[in-house]
Amino acid sequence: MGGASAGRGFGRSPGAPPRVPQRLLASAMAEDQRGKAATLALRRRLLSCSRAPGKTSPSGGPLSGPGAGQTVTQEGTESPDESSSCRLFFPEDPIKIVRGQGQYMYDEQGAEYIDCINNVAHVGHCHPLVVQAAHEQNQLLNTNSRYLHDNIVDYAQRLSKTLPEKLCVFYFLNSGAYHGHLSSLIDISPYKFRDLDGQKEWVHVAPLPDTYRGPYREDHPNPAVAYASEVKRVVSSAQEKGRKIAAFFAESLPSVGGQIIPPAGYFPEVAGHIRRAGGVFVADEIQVGFGRVGKHFWAFQLQGEDFVPDIVTMGKSIGNGHPVACVATTQAVARAFEATGVEYFNTFGGSPVSCAVGLAVLDVLEKEQLQAHAACVGSFLMELLGQQKAKHPILGDVRGVGLFIGVDLIKDEATRMPATEEADYVVSRLKENYILLSTDGPGRNVLKFKPPMCFSLDNARHVVAKLDAILTDMEEKVRSCETLRLHS
Ligand SMILES: Cc1ncc(COP(=O)(O)O)c(C=O)c1O
Repeated sequence: MGGASAGRGFGRSPGAPPRVPQRLLASAMAEDQRGKAATLALRRRLLSCSRAPGKTSPSGGPLSGPGAGQTVTQEGTESPDESSSCRLFFPEDPIKIVRGQGQYMYDEQGAEYIDCINNVAHVGHCHPLVVQAAHEQNQLLNTNSRYLHDNIVDYAQRLSKTLPEKLCVFYFLNSGAYHGHLSSLIDISPYKFRDLDGQKEWVHVAPLPDTYRGPYREDHPNPAVAYASEVKRVVSSAQEKGRKIAAFFAESLPSVGGQIIPPAGYFPEVAGHIRRAGGVFVADEIQVGFGRVGKHFWAFQLQGEDFVPDIVTMGKSIGNGHPVACVATTQAVARAFEATGVEYFNTFGGSPVSCAVGLAVLDVLEKEQLQAHAACVGSFLMELLGQQKAKHPILGDVRGVGLFIGVDLIKDEATRMPATEEADYVVSRLKENYILLSTDGPGRNVLKFKPPMCFSLDNARHVVAKLDAILTDMEEKVRSCETLRLHS
């Protein structure tokens, strides 16, 4: 990690610890390193258990997850026969964050980082109105949803105002629940099941509607229809095997897929194929909902004003860090669920505190006009990144909407081969410059911007200036290596 104080030109908030005097810096840093090493060692001990001998996944890696007898340690710090299923950001030099405010995070030395990763702290880390709402309701009552309470009703009504009229039934939960803790959900997550037992015969995977790297690209006359025909093909092939179609699941903007922006009109076409086959369309808004895309409140609305999914899932940003999640659906789907006779209950979902928090998040979004802000700052950031693309050949594609932006790093323009190591290097250099950014996509080469919605124009300028400096320096280094090679 770099210096103990921020050393940056803007944004130090009131109440942030004062800068460490120069003469104390060395000992503070040594102390910091000792503290961090101790925390890491303790974390490793607490998370570790021995791996069951001989158990490996189909890909040859150790099995992990409940019951797999995993060893959980930190990547890069463990002995070679240990594995890690709990990952830290920047494992080679993890950060100990002790405080967050707005779009900033602070480590234990008071160094301030701009957070470009955290789409959960949607309206800003520790937003005072959200914290206050939780605190006030906590002082009154927190219990499950088996009693009448105004908060749950008010919250469902407020959410319904943001959605098409048909989506009028709400189930509250405390997690989006897909990170590999339920086998049923691992089974429908290709990036998970590919490392485990493989694809079940009742799961069918359609190609990602990626117009940069997929089969139908930016030069295709109608990529929306072309990618939707792929879904139709998948549906027909399942039906030929005697299978029925239950549902189509998609993130409205696939993030783990590499910050993909599906061509407009793709979802309505797909929904047509799916509904004709008897299935429902599920739009996952967990990373991209609540105004992040700027132009609309929900990312599925980018697909056409009239498009209405049958089910919308919400999480992460919904509670600004408080564990809230929600499934919104139609009366028809809700009635079909009810007809199974299975009760819906979730211990924490829909509690008065969760709903107070959810309501406060909606209030802040409105009061601070964060959706419009995301549109404005997002298009400014896209513009700046576009200028960088013209300057640095490694930037193959800049795509995004609002404050959901991906920068696709490539080895060369002809093959568009993912520049994975370079992306990793850029992210670690940005972190040295107190900017937190992550990569995503199957090639882990897409720089992924999804900051809290209060991310500012100044932040955008600052981050892009640092990115420019890092890329220029990288290119310089590559050039001098090549010169050295030529002369040797
Ligand atoms: C797109 C998407 N859907 C669902 C989830 C699951 O949310 P949770 O971690 O609350 O289970 C995540 C979490 O990363 C996600 O990114």
